[in-house]
Amino acid sequence: MLRRTALALFATAFAGPAFAQAYPNKPITIVVPFSAGGPTDVMARIVGERMGRELGQQMIIDNVTGAAGTIGVGKVARSAPDGYTIGIGHLGTNVVNGAIYKNLNYDLLGDLVPIALLPSNPLLVVTSNQVPAKDLKELVAYLKANPDKVSGGTAGMGSGSHIGVLAFFAATGTNYQLVPYRGTGPAAQDLMANQIQIMIDQSSNSLPHVRAGKIRAYAVTAKQRNAAAPDIPTTAEAGFPGIEVAIWHGLWAPKGTPPEIINKLNAAAVVALKDPEVRRRLEDLGQDIPTPEQMQPAAFTAYQKAEFAKWKPIIEKAGVKVE
Ligand code: MLT
Repeated sequence: MLRRTALALFATAFAGPAFAQAYPNKPITIVVPFSAGGPTDVMARIVGERMGRELGQQMIIDNVTGAAGTIGVGKVARSAPDGYTIGIGHLGTNVVNGAIYKNLNYDLLGDLVPIALLPSNPLLVVTSNQVPAKDLKELVAYLKANPDKVSGGTAGMGSGSHIGVLAFFAATGTNYQLVPYRGTGPAAQDLMANQIQIMIDQSSNSLPHVRAGKIRAYAVTAKQRNAAAPDIPTTAEAGFPGIEVAIWHGLWAPKGTPPEIINKLNAAAVVALKDPEVRRRLEDLGQDIPTPEQMQPAAFTAYQKAEFAKWKPIIEKAGVKVE
């Protein structure tokens, strides 16, 4: 009884307009559900730093990794709805995982409130420099001829890199062994060292290594070439249509976070993505920046639901599930 009263007091403490007006008066934690140095982490740091300047508070990055982001997203869903713990995620963590993981201890659509849509980037088909293929057709032939010599990195079932693999396998008829990592940051390190041979990885993670000549890129999973990497052909141009995947990102808060706080966070994210330096850094990584209208909480909520309706049957048809 006492506990219930205490909980009720705790909940109403966040509900008042005075609480929302004073917000934020201490640092805000952004939970990143993948490893430091990977694409989600980089997005959180670039956008979060600028949001923090706008909000007058520091944004602290907390990497809570494992199980394709489900551990970190679960932590956000169970956090106090006071605006001081929010989460960054993407198409994989906040849509596809809802279809793959049958035993999530949170409701992906019900327990998290969308704050703002963030940029989206395509995937690149990349290999270690040891793989002897000059173009995508040669790579596919090599993968078919050497199924036992090749393993590929992903950030777990349902991650962005795994969604890319599913599309790649379906379009090319290939199949290789998958090694799960806590994020594609460390996976890319292993790719450079040829511990793994292939990844279908977000451009923001792989492009810097491609530019440095440390890995090789064969194609971009988009209808059009990416302005940040105009020399890399699309998968269709390289001979394999039907591999079009973009990984969009977003910010979420626990259910029950006051709308005034959601709006303050949204406004800070909009300011961040209007900043020319932030735009330059993100676009250089191949990111496509959403408009302020697309970023609005209501528009983002509708988009996430539409993406869920689109991806659920695709995942079910592919028979990918974790019980
Ligand atoms: C990461 O930040 O490591 C990635 O977003 C992982 C992925 O989804 O492939």
